Amino acid sequence: MSAAPILPGAAIGILGGGQLGRMLAAAARRSGYRVHVIAPGTATPAGQVADEVHDAEPSPELLRGLAGELSVLTYEFENLSAAAVEAAAEHLPVRPSPHTLRTTQDRAREKAFLREQGLPTAPFEAVTGGEAAAAAVQRIGPPAVIKSAGLGYDGKGQARVDSADEVAAVWPSIGAEAVVVEACIDLAMEVSVVAARGVDGSFAHYGVTENRHRDHILDLSVSDAELDPRTSEEAVAIARAVGAGLDAVGTYCVEFFLDGSGRLMVNEVAPRPHNSGHLTIEGAATSQFDQQLRAVCGLPLGSTRRLAPAAMVNLLGDVWDAGTPPWAEAFRDPAATLHLYGKDAPRPGRKMGHITVLGDDRQEAGRRALELRNRLAPHVVS
Ligand SMILES: Nc1ncnc2c1ncn2[C@@H]1O[C@H](COP(=O)(O)OP(=O)(O)O)[C@@H](O)[C@H]1O
Ligand SMILES: [Mg+2]
Repeated sequence: MSAAPILPGAAIGILGGGQLGRMLAAAARRSGYRVHVIAPGTATPAGQVADEVHDAEPSPELLRGLAGELSVLTYEFENLSAAAVEAAAEHLPVRPSPHTLRTTQDRAREKAFLREQGLPTAPFEAVTGGEAAAAAVQRIGPPAVIKSAGLGYDGKGQARVDSADEVAAVWPSIGAEAVVVEACIDLAMEVSVVAARGVDGSFAHYGVTENRHRDHILDLSVSDAELDPRTSEEAVAIARAVGAGLDAVGTYCVEFFLDGSGRLMVNEVAPRPHNSGHLTIEGAATSQFDQQLRAVCGLPLGSTRRLAPAAMVNLLGDVWDAGTPPWAEAFRDPAATLHLYGKDAPRPGRKMGHITVLGDDRQEAGRRALELRNRLAPHVVS
């Protein structure tokens, strides 16, 4: 594919209509690009801020037909037809590549990739069917987590079992035959590295972010996790190796578990901007979305310099449980920024928006972010 950079005025295609596409589209349009969103729905979060919306599931035919209008195609989530993306790649640059998508859209393939690269993961086995899963739980040693290989996000398609005998009871809730069985890790901390890789192999990263989850969904991210410097360096080195091993182009994220003995394990890889990187919009010189734009357009990566310690708290559907939140509260903190994604149905667990707070230090930023959410939704307990 052409190595010439893609410049303002060109049209970028985004597969997927969610909030990650919305924030990429906003960044791209601000810099003078045109944005086409390809996803079912006429008023999706990304579609609301796009120049053009193609209201359809991406198929090989649709993407071949659109190729002439677009300079580059990227994606904001992984649950896509890899065949459609491969068909598109015959006609225009697709970044990250269909190969990167195929590897990361399936937990079993992703874990196999990590193992081949010699990168640390929790002990796991990829198996098919409930009986094989029970046998794997027995071999790995309970407690274990069973995760569907495809189509999982925010803890969906997952179940924890305390013995192999429990597998039969939880099996229907997994909703898939192909699964990964993983040892349950006694977590001291969860962290992530949001990074970017350019067309030329250049690398940039936003440091190590601490992530706290609630019901398996990210709740709070705070910049610059307090780890011993060697662990931080190792996390960044692993993130770099993951990007190089995938030949990734764009912003991507590596999620880690840290156990009580200080051992890092890769949990999963996202070949796109990540919820834990939203704090880079206000907190870094180049946001993860501006970085994605630069990378997929073949431009030099931007500075990832941290402007201030930052924290981000998610606003899930439960924030609306007592009615419309008192939004004025979100603006009382002069260093807070409210993001709402334009979703009209606040279902439980649905990511509706987030708030970023910049602070003098990371603890203070984290505390203020949680306080703000508490004022919006006192009934939400983190
Ligand atoms: N093997 C495990 N040990 C301990 N906690 C886990 C394990 N797997 C998942 N979790 C918890 O569930 C969360 C979501 O799981 P993850 O595999 O990242 O799926 P998703 O694709 O839904 O983000 C993790 O961030 C972690 O808090
Ligand atoms: Mg995850």
